[in-house]
Amino acid sequence: MNNAVECRSLTRSFKGNAKQQAIIALDNIDLDVREGELFGLLGPNGAGKTTLIKILATLLLPSSGKVTVLGYDVEREAHKIRPRINMVSGGEFSGYGLLTVRENLWMFSQFYGIPTRIAKQRIDELLHDFELADKADAKVRTISTGQRQRMNVVRGFVTDPDLIFLDEPTLGLDVNSSRTIRDYIRRWVREQNGKTALITTHYMMEAEELCDRVAIIDRGRILACDSPCNLKKQVQRDAVFTLETTQFADLDSIGHISGVKGYTGETNGERQKIRIVAEEESVLAEVIQVIAGKGGKVISLTKVESTLEDVFLQLVGRGLI
Ligand SMILES: Nc1ncnc2c1ncn2[C@@H]1O[C@H](COP(=O)(O)OP(=O)(O)OP(=O)(O)O)[C@@H](O)[C@H]1O
Ligand SMILES: [Mg+2]
Repeated sequence: MNNAVECRSLTRSFKGNAKQQAIIALDNIDLDVREGELFGLLGPNGAGKTTLIKILATLLLPSSGKVTVLGYDVEREAHKIRPRINMVSGGEFSGYGLLTVRENLWMFSQFYGIPTRIAKQRIDELLHDFELADKADAKVRTISTGQRQRMNVVRGFVTDPDLIFLDEPTLGLDVNSSRTIRDYIRRWVREQNGKTALITTHYMMEAEELCDRVAIIDRGRILACDSPCNLKKQVQRDAVFTLETTQFADLDSIGHISGVKGYTGETNGERQKIRIVAEEESVLAEVIQVIAGKGGKVISLTKVESTLEDVFLQLVGRGLI
């Protein structure tokens, strides 16, 4: 099977301002994405996900290393790559507010030179699949944020690329819109032969449910790359707990306890919900002691099945947001 993407020793740095050192956004990355794969990039803010996607989409050049996309070199053969890929960023809206949804999609299809009959048919099918058929003739400035974001994702598929890059396609969307987008991506990859999708996400469940393989990326490096199932095996020997406590002063102190591999905390009203990946169960005694020392009280404690989030906590040491 061919690789849709190959990165060898890929490094990308950005100049800092006069006083700053250069920022190394991608640090010696090796990565293969196979043709026909639904591949996820999971990492916290600033990890380098968007930089990587921009390089693969030929919008940004590598500083060093070798990168091929669909067998072509991103530096020398970008013109051969571009007609066969497309990219969507969930956080930003493209499109012209004065044009209708259908007119916008039509315009993008024409940038790629898609024949009229095929473009019209494809647009109708996609509007239906993304539950936008009743908005086809509405001006884009009149539709909701979620509808606009779905239109944005449709724009990525309307050119029928061999490889699509989806940078946080469900960012900030409601459950239904997110599900519609995820279901479509899944079907698009599964039902066609050799179509590849590379998606970045902040949502652990999304990566776990959707992706064939996931690369965990932090500070420009790939820390692990495997199927969600194999990644989870890495934490099977660890003890994973959730604790509910009253508010206490210094959540970071949990991270300093030896034997705690990673933790994440979330405040919920008066309560604090904490998830901890520990080397062994005995570490808990010290966790409870530290919480009490900071003025907190443990209300409940549950041992839980490990998820992809725990792999992330173990590798990165902290949660995603
Ligand atoms: N054009 C640029 N100039 C300078 N620094 C940049 C530029 N683009 C990205 N960076 C820096 O490179 C690093 C990686 O950024 P990138 O946008 O790739 O992260 P990300 O993983 O997509 O984060 P997020 O989850 O917030 O979208 C960050 O430190 C960022 O500040
Ligand atoms: Mg980004």
